[in-house]
Amino acid sequence: MKILFATPELAPWMKSGGLGEISASLPAALHEAGMDVRILVPAYAPLLAAFPDAKLVAEFAHPGGNLLSARLLEAKAGNGLPLLLIDCPAYYVRAGSAYLDGAGNDFADNHLRFGLLSRIAALLAGSASPLRWRPHVLHCNDWPCGLAPAYLHFMGGATASTVMSIHNLAFQGIFPADTLEALGLSAAAYAIDGVEYWGRLSFMKAGLHYAQRITTVSPRYAEEIQTEAFGYGFAGLLRWRNRDLTGILNGIDTRAWDPATDTYLPRRYEFAHMKGKGANKTALRQRLGLAQESSCPLFGAVSRITHQKGLDLLADIGEEIAQLPAQVALLGAGDKRLEAALMSLAARHPERFSVTLGYDEGLAHQIEAGADMFLMPSRFEPCGLNQMYSLRYGTPPIVRATGGLADTVVDCNEATLADDTANGFVFAEISAQALLGTIRRAISAWHDTTLWRKLQCNGMLLDFGWAKAAAAYKEIYAGLGEKKKADRARSPAAADKAGTAA
Ligand code: ADP
Ligand code: GLC
Repeated sequence: MKILFATPELAPWMKSGGLGEISASLPAALHEAGMDVRILVPAYAPLLAAFPDAKLVAEFAHPGGNLLSARLLEAKAGNGLPLLLIDCPAYYVRAGSAYLDGAGNDFADNHLRFGLLSRIAALLAGSASPLRWRPHVLHCNDWPCGLAPAYLHFMGGATASTVMSIHNLAFQGIFPADTLEALGLSAAAYAIDGVEYWGRLSFMKAGLHYAQRITTVSPRYAEEIQTEAFGYGFAGLLRWRNRDLTGILNGIDTRAWDPATDTYLPRRYEFAHMKGKGANKTALRQRLGLAQESSCPLFGAVSRITHQKGLDLLADIGEEIAQLPAQVALLGAGDKRLEAALMSLAARHPERFSVTLGYDEGLAHQIEAGADMFLMPSRFEPCGLNQMYSLRYGTPPIVRATGGLADTVVDCNEATLADDTANGFVFAEISAQALLGTIRRAISAWHDTTLWRKLQCNGMLLDFGWAKAAAAYKEIYAGLGEKKKADRARSPAAADKAGTAA
């Protein structure tokens, strides 16, 4: 089975969040499960620098509308997976992230930048593809690839079936209606049962409407997005497509995130030898200038600092946390006002709060290992990766009961301790007081060494590898193949043939 995996991010070269990591590890897992996978991604500067010998395999002159011409380069990633890089420097070689300029604003031409990604994905999935390699399935990820199923629908000649994966429904790629022409999309697409969304064009809606199957990154989020509270305007559409929608929990890269081999850690450790974890706590406190107080628990957080992640709830109870006493080591970047609130907390309590603004892979690993517990008070969380890293690092997570957090973290109570499923702490209400209450509950459990060891053990022994998810995607791809065969058998041409034969 041949899969074209289209994505706007690919770790380690371009990553804004979990999608970058998933785009590196899911295709590798699909490959291990026996599929022939190619990753289609814009040729951002770090990718061009990493693959100077990438081979030219196709050219797309004037791919439609006002979209710029592009070249398609092929390279091989370290894990042997083929990469197809869309080379269009005027769109993709810029300072900033995949979506934002250096000042944190969306690039003004994001519709064209990701219109081109979608357009080329569609061209490679149709009969006019310049490549000999023809995918059976085009797997689109998040809004930047959302137009691909729409292009394919209106182009005709689709040779691949389409899957649209939602990693975060809050990001929808909404642009003015008059961008339709620049994007080279058929005017017929601009309809309520098409790409139109409240008088504008939505890339996400295009994907959700035209893809044959929809997946999202946890079973709980698949349910949540069918409700008005989490559906971001698409609850109705998703309920309507309910039979085509599946939630598949992401895996994690268990090689990169393994406390027994993690080279970012000053001391490695594993379940049977946990001493090293204490040494990581000491080293982390030292690195961040936090006081070395043995009776004071240390909470970690590594996150985009945004409304989604609920770190405003943490800022609201900063003073109470300092008095508990407890310490917090936070790494992240995002909303400037919230960054400032957290920084001022750190300035008031330098021995209790450490806030590092920016992106730092090494520190992220050191926080996972050095903290006693990990905080994820998200308002919503399609999957979330850090709670799984935390479980693996013996750092019980404190999470809000939503999306993938609810699917992976089991609240510590008498019943879950008795059946050995307890692995962290879960709260339901979105409020600073609910978070504070849960932090207090976690601290009292932390003082009980036997209980704590059990909690760590339950988490560390869980398997978050990709095998299960890869098998679930394989089943979805295979189902699309079966459906295609059945559709072909039912087509008028097939009926004609049958008639002639009779
Ligand atoms: P999201 O994609 O919504 O941001 P995820 O939990 O899926 O959330 O993935 C976020 C990933 O990015 C995690 O691996 C996390 O460790 C990493 N990350 C987030 N912020 C930072 C940062 N400032 N420095 C290093 N890693 C970060
Ligand atoms: C999104 C979500 C996050 C998820 C990630 C990868 O960025 O916010 O919860 O883990 O995608 O699927």
